[in-house]
Amino acid sequence: SFLFPISAAQSQTTLVSKLEALQCHFTWDLDPSKKKLLRLSDMLVDIGKKGHCWLGHIYNLRGFIQYKLGFPEDAQSFFNKAAEAFRQMRKADDGPWLVVNYGNLAWLHHHLGDQAESEAYLSKVEALMKKYPSPSQDELHAEIYAEKAWTLMKFSTDRELVADYFQKAIRMQPDMVEWNTSHVMGLASGFDHIDTVLEADILEKMRVAKEQDSENLYLAAYYLEQRAKKGERVEDEARELAGKILRNLLSSYNGMKAILRVYRHYVSIDEAVDLAEEALEQHPDERYLKRCAALTLRWKIICFSDGRPKQSTIDRAISLQEEVISLYPHSSFVKKIELANIYAKSNHGQAKAEQMYQELLNSDLEPADKQLLYNQYAKYLNFDRQDQNKSLKYHMKAAEITHQSFYRGNSIKVLENVKNKRRNSMWREIEEFLENLQEP
Ligand SMILES: *[C@@H]1O[C@H](CO)[C@@H](O)[C@H](O)[C@H]1NC(C)=O
Ligand SMILES: *[C@@H]1O[C@H](CO)[C@@H](O)[C@H](O)[C@H]1NC(C)=O
Repeated sequence: SFLFPISAAQSQTTLVSKLEALQCHFTWDLDPSKKKLLRLSDMLVDIGKKGHCWLGHIYNLRGFIQYKLGFPEDAQSFFNKAAEAFRQMRKADDGPWLVVNYGNLAWLHHHLGDQAESEAYLSKVEALMKKYPSPSQDELHAEIYAEKAWTLMKFSTDRELVADYFQKAIRMQPDMVEWNTSHVMGLASGFDHIDTVLEADILEKMRVAKEQDSENLYLAAYYLEQRAKKGERVEDEARELAGKILRNLLSSYNGMKAILRVYRHYVSIDEAVDLAEEALEQHPDERYLKRCAALTLRWKIICFSDGRPKQSTIDRAISLQEEVISLYPHSSFVKKIELANIYAKSNHGQAKAEQMYQELLNSDLEPADKQLLYNQYAKYLNFDRQDQNKSLKYHMKAAEITHQSFYRGNSIKVLENVKNKRRNSMWREIEEFLENLQEP
């Protein structure tokens, strides 16, 4: 109780300090670029379907993203959907899983200028925390640790912090299968590249998680891929798993992309193409399946072409890729580069490929995108235009951009190779260039 009546300004300060003390998306230091928000949103739309064990969390995050993008009404509607999803999945009207959701709503109403509603949600949070206290003053409730871990993972925040939050949640509530699974997948992320093999202890954790979460096809496909990378023969298991995935196509969280990678590398590229087409035939309107089909055709045309691929394959790839560009407008930059690369392999597509590249080169891009584009254009110049000099110039342009990425590393590797083997008369120029190269 207050000895003196408090002023409006004071009460505003109290409200803000209470809001700042909440655990929710608005206080988790998530400050991504607009581009990141849009790409994340695209991904969440694909995975966020009924039956997904993280559906409540997905809606909370989508609400936050919509707020950040300037659509507060959408935000409100997603937060409401989140609460409803939790109600259905946890089979209870309230519980500690609503703390983050109510916190988001308190912040949203505060931003919308509705202080009374904001305070109402603050009171709801307080009531929940009383009813479901965390184990100690300096620890959060397991549900909050889990949601925080899952959310930070989507923003590729510090992997150790994510692991730490998951571990805390799991220690407190070891029966939540999906927490274990996501924890292991978080540990494994960053080993996605085909050449990197998972450390043995992570692989073992994944094996255990797979045993517990045996219905999770995403985990199963990912685990199979890891075993294949280690040299195990997996064709038969891959086919069996593909059959299961085909019967569960309505969520992109079903391991489709991982099983396609397994097919590509360890079964056969043609079967990968067929599998993706079969899935798309079953659900012709699922945009992520179009994306998968376009992906396998690109692999076939670009990575496996011994000689010229059939024109009909190229035509199919072009039409799918164009559809994918329109269905995923926020990822269209990379998809357009991919399309240009398909045109480059086509009988009469060279001029079109060059034209697409010129349009992209003349567009207004952030440094990271520019770097990616220069690297890809350099490869196209070398492989499709046999213009090694110009290609090396573009690898240098990519390397010059001081942004750490796979593409920068790749361009530097090409340049170092040329320098070491003195393969091109530009090697002296390249040597000098590499000596003066700034580190990011
Ligand atoms: C999750 O992992 C913990 C720690 O590794 C383990 O004790 C627990 O049994 C696992 N829970 C499930 C449901 O798999
Ligand atoms: C490539 O560049 C080198 C060095 O600048 C030059 O000597 C050579 O003639 C160029 N090659 C072509 C094909 O333009």
